[in-house]
Amino acid sequence: MKISIFVVVLLAWSITALADDSNFSTHLHSKFQTKGCTNCHDFFDKERGGLSFKSHKGRSPDMCVYCHTQDVTGFKHTDEWFAQPGLYTSGMDSQQTCEAIKTALHAKFKNKGMVARQIEIHLFEDPRVLWGIEEATPNSGMLPGGEKEKDLVKEGLTKWKDQVRAWIQGGMKCQ
Ligand code: HEC
Ligand code: HEC
Repeated sequence: MKISIFVVVLLAWSITALADDSNFSTHLHSKFQTKGCTNCHDFFDKERGGLSFKSHKGRSPDMCVYCHTQDVTGFKHTDEWFAQPGLYTSGMDSQQTCEAIKTALHAKFKNKGMVARQIEIHLFEDPRVLWGIEEATPNSGMLPGGEKEKDLVKEGLTKWKDQVRAWIQGGMKCQ
């Protein structure tokens, strides 16, 4: 009898431990890996079919605004629609995605408090990130020519903020 109670308690504990909100893998890995984020981060990555080697061949950084206009993106500053290499990309597992984010932020060289602030500002206010979250802005997912990216971060901005905060407050673990 006592043993079975022990087993039940242990089981309940392990299920909660598995769903630990402070782990990057619990909610965030799949969200960071939606096409709305990775199509742009893969832009200059040939192996991952980056757009700069396909439909966007030969388009310079100054040209982005001709098609990804303010009407399309809803950005305050249209020229903030851009891509660059050296970010996390598609196909990375949870650990790799999380480590790449920290590398992009040069986290190794900063106080943890500052990194936490910077990542929070980026993930809650950056126009590119908000564009990739379903219904975070009226223009989220909108592309030129009436096209729309459908694989965006689901469940909305409030849930996103809760989950990002849980990860930051838990020490930004890459598990
Ligand atoms: C239009 C292209 C584009 C889209 C869409 C985009 N990003 Fe980025 N991302 C960038 C660029 C460019 C940078 C580097 C400059 C910067 O920090 O904003 C970046 C940097 C980052 C960084 C590194 C932090 C930093 O400050 O450098 C993270 C994390 C990130 N993006 C997450 C996301 C997430 C999550 C999404 C989707 C919800 C997303 N991005 C959508 C272009 C994009
Ligand atoms: C001539 C018009 C035009 C120009 C210039 C242009 N784009 Fe695009 N872009 C499009 C169209 C149309 C799509 C949707 C179809 C596709 O993916 O090619 C698109 C899609 C994208 C996507 C895919 C987003 C997603 O999640 O599906 C990214 C990222 C992107 N563009 C980035 C850029 C960047 C960065 C630049 C500047 C270097 C740029 N574009 C210049 C027309 C343009």
